[in-house]
Amino acid sequence: MSLLSACLVLAAILGLTSAAINEIRPAAQKPGRFLSLPQPQKCANRPKEFNYRGHNYFFSGHLPQFRNTRLDWLDARNICREFCMDLVSMETQEENNLVFRLIQQNDVPYIWTSGRLCDFKGCENRRDLEPKSLYGWFWSANRVKMAPTNQVPAGWGYNPWSQTGHKKVRQPDNAEFDINGTNESCLSVLNNVYNDGIAWHDVACYHEKPFICEDSEELLNYVASTNRGIRL
Ligand SMILES: *[C@@H]1O[C@H](CO)[C@@H](O)[C@H](O)[C@H]1NC(C)=O
Ligand SMILES: *[C@@H]1O[C@H](CO)[C@@H](O)[C@H](O)[C@H]1NC(C)=O
Repeated sequence: MSLLSACLVLAAILGLTSAAINEIRPAAQKPGRFLSLPQPQKCANRPKEFNYRGHNYFFSGHLPQFRNTRLDWLDARNICREFCMDLVSMETQEENNLVFRLIQQNDVPYIWTSGRLCDFKGCENRRDLEPKSLYGWFWSANRVKMAPTNQVPAGWGYNPWSQTGHKKVRQPDNAEFDINGTNESCLSVLNNVYNDGIAWHDVACYHEKPFICEDSEELLNYVASTNRGIRL
């Protein structure tokens, strides 16, 4: 079985949407790249730096093997996925505060999250995602849609997107598109890069950053159901 068919079989098992399956196809800029499959032994021994609401997390900079590792968005996702994790998704203010606090207390310059703009194949005919800059963002790890980017999310006391950036306008601003035609399709938390405190920014996915991984229930359930007796 080729890696692609393995991915597609896994995608089918996991019940991924057609948009998500399309995401597994090679990324446009670097052909031949795929989402990694979870590795049962790595899942069983995954790093558990802290736990929140039943999910384990780790910051790459706190592990000896990744201390100085900076990766682009897909490579960072794949490191997480081999551990049955994915890049962190902040669906609630409480979880976002946890991530902001980790960044602040450890003086981390920036991290990757699983946040992604739905601008790849499969997203074209989704009227509900237009305009993309307001309605097109979701968490790749679980495909949960984000609140409109110009609003305080329901249940939150603040808008996590920065009010400024390279173009001195609120985020997301797709600023790099104006610089060299590269879309800013991935969500990074930046630590005061624009004198704006710790806040969300859209960033081109090729940038290399440290990252936070969070347990993926989907991948853990998949590995549990295909490896009898495994302790995860
Ligand atoms: C865009 O510019 C950055 C540096 O400013 C460069 O690293 C990157 O490769 C460029 N991307 C493209 C697609 O030209
Ligand atoms: C950038 O995004 C626009 C709008 O989604 C899209 O039409 C265009 O093809 C993208 N450009 C690249 C280089 O991916």
